[in-house]
Amino acid sequence: MAPRTILIADDDAAHRRMLGAALESAGFACRFAADGEEAVRSATTTPPELLLLDVRMPRLDGIEALRRIAEELPALPVVIVTAHGDVRTAVEAMKLGARDFIEKPVDIDELRNVVQDILERPAPDKVDGGGETDEPRTLVGPSAAMAKVRQTVRLAAKSNATVLVHGESGTGKEVVARAIHDLSDRRTGPFVALNCAAVPEGLLESELFGHEKGAFTGAGARHAGRFEAAGGGTLLLDEIGEMRPPLQARLLRALQERSFERLGGTSPVHVDIRVVAATNRDLRADIAQKRFREDLYYRLAVVEIAMPPLRDRREDILPTAQHLLARLRPEARPRLTAEAAAGLTLHDWPGNVRELANVLERALLFAGTGDLAPEHLPPALRELCGREETPAGPPDATGVRPGVSLEAVERDLIEKTLRSLGGNRSRTAETLGLSRRALLYKLKRYGIR
Ligand SMILES: Nc1ncnc2c1ncn2[C@@H]1O[C@H](COP(=O)(O)OP(=O)(O)OP(=O)(O)O)[C@@H](O)[C@H]1O
Ligand SMILES: [Mg+2]
Repeated sequence: MAPRTILIADDDAAHRRMLGAALESAGFACRFAADGEEAVRSATTTPPELLLLDVRMPRLDGIEALRRIAEELPALPVVIVTAHGDVRTAVEAMKLGARDFIEKPVDIDELRNVVQDILERPAPDKVDGGGETDEPRTLVGPSAAMAKVRQTVRLAAKSNATVLVHGESGTGKEVVARAIHDLSDRRTGPFVALNCAAVPEGLLESELFGHEKGAFTGAGARHAGRFEAAGGGTLLLDEIGEMRPPLQARLLRALQERSFERLGGTSPVHVDIRVVAATNRDLRADIAQKRFREDLYYRLAVVEIAMPPLRDRREDILPTAQHLLARLRPEARPRLTAEAAAGLTLHDWPGNVRELANVLERALLFAGTGDLAPEHLPPALRELCGREETPAGPPDATGVRPGVSLEAVERDLIEKTLRSLGGNRSRTAETLGLSRRALLYKLKRYGIR
């Protein structure tokens, strides 16, 4: 078999030669380009099997070159070489369709692993005939916020980028992780989840990386960890914020080197996995308090997905309820009475979609084969069902509805204002007519980040 060709675009001749030597010694044939324009010309005239693209180059930088090449050769796998810690460029490149990125200084083993993984795995399906195979159907909701989540999931699925999903409990973080897996070219590989909070601290390391026989007291036969189990597929590290810093350091190394050693082992194990991490904690606050490593955060958050709580997207409540009902009783298609629907829409859902699913499951038990009515809902919700009949009805220009507590309105207003001002607290305080101190107090009181 003829060796596979890799085009290396880098303006630094010595670096170019170093990369070329590394790949040639792994059995690849290399071609070279000294700037972005040359890379575009060379790739589009005689497409290589893979393009390794430096970002900072004269005439045409790597991102712009990628944009042009992706238009003409959407199936060509491109690996971007970025400056260390330049996450923003990496994210942009992934969005433009780059398959992966490597940070400088380039680690030769990492480079070979990345290139081999890509060339051994078939390209993700391009939109085929039907065209809708890439729609994450499990993520329901017509709101703009959920549409954005679905779009990011689609983009993330096309690349190998690590994804960090954060959001309150029950917002669907695990649903997102599975959707990314199912839409990616790894879908035929395993999906493995590990809840970092559910494993006793002392066992987490061996649960992740596995151990050799007799590595520690009680370690019987050799045991493969979740990293190995997820080979060729996706690993969900749930509740990543609960991981202690020493293990965070090991995880970071494993992600960077794409290999690790089993406990008590001496030879590195290479793995081809995509990692999705999920958390309901505020990792930035944890970083400030030195509970979470900043470098690991940036490694994980190449693509970030924030799951919006249900109360911030009330237009999604009823469609989600219908989706859940159809899942709970596929044969019966149970219906909600108008009063029950009104109650569901007014509730604040601190437990988000999971709470909604639980409420519906319980209501189905009480309702038997009839429609779901207020009397089948828990008392707190039942009380909200009548509120719609109060005179003012639908929200007015301020977006406020009768039947909601003042506190809930205040919290909601503060949160939305803060978000619309990009998190700027001084301007938020000014807009709301509060002193900065008063705003900080309220942020703390309502647990708003
Ligand atoms: N947008 C959604 N559309 C449809 N179903 C959803 C959605 N979000 C969540 N669900 C459902 O809600 C339940 C909770 O979702 P999931 O387990 O993914 O939440 P989570 O964010 O991981 O919560 P936790 O932080 O408690 O682990 C699941 O049954 C899931 O199927
Ligand atoms: Mg979860």
